[in-house]
Amino acid sequence: MDKKLKIVAICGSPHRGNTYNILSMLERSHPEVDFKILMLAEVDLKDCFGCYSCINNGEESCPLTDDRDMIIKEMKDADGTIFASPTYARTISALMKKFVERTSFIAHRPIFFGKYALALATCAGFGADLTCKYLTENFGQCGFKFIPSVELKVATKSQNETDHNRRKALNAYKKLIKAIKAHEKFEPSLGQLVYFNIFKSISELNKLKGWADYEFYKEKGDFYFDVKIPYVKHKLAKWIASREIKKLKTNK
Ligand SMILES: Cc1cc2nc3c(=O)[nH]c(=O)nc-3n(C[C@H](O)[C@H](O)[C@H](O)COP(=O)(O)O)c2cc1C
Repeated sequence: MDKKLKIVAICGSPHRGNTYNILSMLERSHPEVDFKILMLAEVDLKDCFGCYSCINNGEESCPLTDDRDMIIKEMKDADGTIFASPTYARTISALMKKFVERTSFIAHRPIFFGKYALALATCAGFGADLTCKYLTENFGQCGFKFIPSVELKVATKSQNETDHNRRKALNAYKKLIKAIKAHEKFEPSLGQLVYFNIFKSISELNKLKGWADYEFYKEKGDFYFDVKIPYVKHKLAKWIASREIKKLKTNK
């Protein structure tokens, strides 16, 4: 028997409102999928107090004890993750930002290659695009491959608007499922290659302070894992990264 497809939706809304309702609709649309909605408001997630322990000394050294690792495990165990947030003041909610901060070490040492993701944002008028951009850029750096985002305007709650949003969200969800099933071959984007080169260089420069990154990057070759990279893309990424590193050094 085929293993059930597993999707986890991380919801950054502080209540079971518009964003939750869309996720709940997605859950009901495909009963064959093992779908879990994880409300950040309903788990124990403490504020990062900026000690750098997770980044410098490894995530195990975080002094906070809460549900952070449980959430990361859910994402690791799932075939796909939906990052969903309402748009508050033109970006992700404070709750989602807290989650982003508590998982920043993964942007340094990505672990989600081979996993698919979808960013979903609701808004009342403007800004869902900025919310989705933030989510895809941040979690893309953690290794996820994103399919095109869902940006939804929930303003009038009319039948027309509800149907339109339902269609949009369902289409994107179906694309996510299709991508997971097709297991498309991964090729790093130019942005991911640039980040790789920047983080690798910084890990060498900071090796006394940040041994966790240093240990992670020291055996790495041209990317986080063995993958064929077109020559021009590879050279261009290295050039952009070295320019950025030079800027960092001269500002010191
Ligand atoms: C504090 C706050 C800030 C908001 N900022 C924006 C905004 O910048 N742009 C926008 O279009 N809607 C904004 N909204 C509206 C919400 O994005 C919209 O109602 C969303 O669907 C709420 O989702 P929720 O029910 O999951 O919280 C804001 C709402 C709140 C409560």
